[in-house]
Amino acid sequence: MNCRAPSRASSCVDSYAESVSEGEIEEQRERLLDGWDHVAAGWGRQADRTQSVASPISEWMIDHAQPTPGETVLELAAGPGDTGFMAAHRISPGGTLICSDATNGMLAVARERAQEQGVDNVEFKQLQLEWIDMPTASVDVALCRWGVMLTLDPSAALRECRRVLKPGGRFALAVWDQPERNPWATVMQRTLVELGHAQPPAPGGPGMFALAAPGQLQRMLEEAGFFDVEVEPVAITRRYASVVDWLGETRDLSEQFGEVWAKLPDAQRQEVRERVSLAAQPYVTETGEVILPGSSLAALAHA
Ligand SMILES: C[S@@+](CC[C@H](N)C(=O)[O-])C[C@H]1O[C@@H](n2cnc3c(N)ncnc32)[C@H](O)[C@@H]1O
Repeated sequence: MNCRAPSRASSCVDSYAESVSEGEIEEQRERLLDGWDHVAAGWGRQADRTQSVASPISEWMIDHAQPTPGETVLELAAGPGDTGFMAAHRISPGGTLICSDATNGMLAVARERAQEQGVDNVEFKQLQLEWIDMPTASVDVALCRWGVMLTLDPSAALRECRRVLKPGGRFALAVWDQPERNPWATVMQRTLVELGHAQPPAPGGPGMFALAAPGQLQRMLEEAGFFDVEVEPVAITRRYASVVDWLGETRDLSEQFGEVWAKLPDAQRQEVRERVSLAAQPYVTETGEVILPGSSLAALAHA
């Protein structure tokens, strides 16, 4: 796998990757990918729940990209792989799904899920979004749910997605919408910051909300050479049996949260629980369930 940093000339001038030194960026990239590898087992444990919450987003992506029998579909940053597996059924007979992720841990989870779901027209490949080690113009459809905004250079990642698509190819992706539309994520992150257990995310750096600003995704896709770009918010609902259940899911899915939690003594964990319970009050039902809204931006772009 080619893991070298992109040349400065190929990076977008206003990218975060341009604002820090090459050495720092490499260290940060390695840390980020190690972090994803570390939470792969947790993503595996939560995969059924994640997919039941996120299926409206996957459905939007597949319905808009319209994979057809015989086509080649590439899923990037696939994690447990469920969006690609939905497409795999549509390209049969004759089509191939390439399920890819930067980390071995996530690919292991995806392999297991493909087997469980009986998906047999799939190949697995370790690929990084910013250097997709695939020939130019080799796939009909590219899919990427919740991946591009996590890269250090999303402009480079989008250019790579366009490069591997055949002329007329379709790219369907999703990133998270603005933080205020996703309290299921921000409450936990804010609690850690307020209690002094974590730093706020670096401005302009990679993270859940890095591409959430109005118009940003559309602009970046067009700058990467895509045309007929369509971006639409897709609502989701996250339901938890209790605040404890919500905390448990967050520990599984968020490397930052899990790492902080593992080091906290009991008294400080209790403080986190109390803060989160307080912030959760508007979302708690009479039965004690916690029901939180969320929103992703789904997009379709043509190469
Ligand atoms: C938020 S998870 C989303 C997983 C899956 N797409 C889903 O929607 O459930 C992000 C995934 O992106 C992968 N990832 C992070 N940075 C990446 C990069 N630079 N290139 C490729 N994959 C990356 C992680 O390993 C992880 O599997």
